[in-house]
Amino acid sequence: CAMPLAAKTRAATVAATDAQGNAAKRAFPRGFVWGTATAAYQVEGATGADGRGESIWDVYAHTPGKVVDGSNADVADDDYHRYPEDIALMHALGVGAYRFSVAWPRIFPDGAGRPDAKGVDYYKRLVDALHAAGIEPYCTLYHWDLPEALQRKGGWQNRDTAKAFADYAGYMAGQLDGRVSHFMTMNEISTFIGNGYGSTAMAPGLGLKGQALQQARHHALLGHGLAVQAIRTATNAKTRVGSAEGIDAPMPAFDAPEHVAAARKAAVEENAGYLTAMHTGRYTDLYLETLGAAAPKFTAEEMRIIGSKTDFQGLNIYTGNYYIAADNERGYEAVPFPASYPRMQSSWIQFAPDALYWGPKLMAEALGIGAIYITENGTSSTAAPDAEGRVLDIDRVMFLRQYLGELQRGIADGAPVRGYFLWSLLDNFEWSRGYSERFGITWVDFATQKRTPKLSSRFYRDVIARNAI
Ligand code: NOJ
Repeated sequence: CAMPLAAKTRAATVAATDAQGNAAKRAFPRGFVWGTATAAYQVEGATGADGRGESIWDVYAHTPGKVVDGSNADVADDDYHRYPEDIALMHALGVGAYRFSVAWPRIFPDGAGRPDAKGVDYYKRLVDALHAAGIEPYCTLYHWDLPEALQRKGGWQNRDTAKAFADYAGYMAGQLDGRVSHFMTMNEISTFIGNGYGSTAMAPGLGLKGQALQQARHHALLGHGLAVQAIRTATNAKTRVGSAEGIDAPMPAFDAPEHVAAARKAAVEENAGYLTAMHTGRYTDLYLETLGAAAPKFTAEEMRIIGSKTDFQGLNIYTGNYYIAADNERGYEAVPFPASYPRMQSSWIQFAPDALYWGPKLMAEALGIGAIYITENGTSSTAAPDAEGRVLDIDRVMFLRQYLGELQRGIADGAPVRGYFLWSLLDNFEWSRGYSERFGITWVDFATQKRTPKLSSRFYRDVIARNAI
């Protein structure tokens, strides 16, 4: 085929490499960590295997009307049994890291007390198999599957849950010491508190308001802080400890100094109940004033624990909010998304590639964070197998190309991002959306458990191989 000369020259420029062997343009730093991510309840299945206890998500998903397609995660991707095959998929992809989570009810079926050796062994086998494939395990200790036994005692409304979490986290980290270099305490406290306690959209589905909601949130933060300390005590000095928090990335409406300043203020105040408290050890004055009588009860000692020093911050970023400067007590105003703003299949994912430019940069600047991993990014897509069985998810390819381009630009401008974990390796149980929203770069036929890499998987493989976008 006749390629015009100009296009030929352009292709040659993009493919050219510098002395380090990196693509000369749009390269990521040397040693940048490329990974994929999953979570225990969303992929493992085998909910009754090897003495696993019940979790709040088993109860929730089995309650009629809670999950849109009436499904549950009893089988999900059966990754509990099929992890060797899934590790082989990752090996073919060329990723250097895998973010997974440990199911607390596999380790302590009743939340506390005696650990279950079979559950512990499963994760030891998993991380050993990852190492054998040259993949570094990044371990999240709580990705929302609270043991039901603890929910019966109030879940995160009960301050003792924070202590039970730290005990479990310390125990499990100790069991994996030397085999896992990076631990994350919790995944998206803002989501499981907001949707599980503030609304009924996720387990346990309590729909609390006011002080009760704030106290549950505060206890979850306390659990994070206590777990940071417990993990440090249980592991060697090289172990890196952090969390994976979800944010709507703060973004200026456009790159003008006053709007950038506004977005930086929003980075602090919009995350005041989560990341800001975790990185500064205090609730902002504005936050406490705004809450008034609904503010949580807390002690100085608890705030010190919540502010326990971490080694990195994981950020789950899918979208963001645009801000403009405003003449109000906050100094910023969020720009609402008009109905015509482009979105992905999941309606909460407004297409905003610059979330990966501004999010890490402004969070790092505003909270003094030294090392960031994008612990989740990706999108759902309706793309399904065609007549030849191929899944040509061009919307996900477009999404990833644009978001990764902005991430690379942010890093080139100084954002301290060390790695990127694509959500997700596999189509999986998308919480209350069931199997109706597929986030995988691998298609899973849930009737046969057959895995088929999608077009986006090929795209991601190329990005990793070139370490450039
Ligand atoms: C955030 C959560 O951590 C993950 O469990 C979920 O599947 C993805 N985002 C997509 O919604």
